[in-house]
Amino acid sequence: MNQPNRQRAELAVIVLFIIIISILVWNITPYTSMPPRVEPVTESAPSPSPTAKTPADEQWKHGKELFKSNCASCHNPKVAQTGPALMGVARRWEDAGSYQGKTGKQWLYAWIKDWHEPVGAKYPYAVTIQNYSPSEMNMFPTLKDEDIDAILHYVEASQAGQPVAMH
Ligand code: HEC
Repeated sequence: MNQPNRQRAELAVIVLFIIIISILVWNITPYTSMPPRVEPVTESAPSPSPTAKTPADEQWKHGKELFKSNCASCHNPKVAQTGPALMGVARRWEDAGSYQGKTGKQWLYAWIKDWHEPVGAKYPYAVTIQNYSPSEMNMFPTLKDEDIDAILHYVEASQAGQPVAMH
């Protein structure tokens, strides 16, 4: 290799080196300049989820309040008291099946609002459970289906290790 060619080759290497460095710097700068903008996003994004009220949390809280004020005097989710342990109750009524055009779940809503209705209609499961205790269950005609769903959600959540309301 003669002298001018060698110089050209060295120059080419230097130019290439500069190009590579520029590419690297170009690629890195957007990231290195980003943290101030990215950090608040990555820090604030996960933090609301544990603390923020999701619809499920709201339903659980609503269910807990209703359960404590209306049901806990006779029921515990896990322990039979005056009334049966309520855990799995929606499943029991669903499994009991449809009757006179209503699903087991609809009969469950009806039972909680006024147990006379499914018993009067002779829904077999209701007739059986009515003999559970000599005591009678209270009636809750003001509870809406959503309220009952919240109570049942709360009762089932106790299974997942969440606090259970004792009275
Ligand atoms: C005064 C006591 C009392 C209160 C208060 C009460 N229950 Fe009951 N509940 C009973 C009894 C007793 C039974 C069993 C049926 C029977 O013996 O007549 C029962 C049965 C049930 C059943 C059927 C259980 C099964 O295994 O299928 C459900 C569901 C139920 N109660 C839900 C509720 C809910 C929800 C509340 C609150 C909104 C509530 N109860 C409040 C006494 C009560």
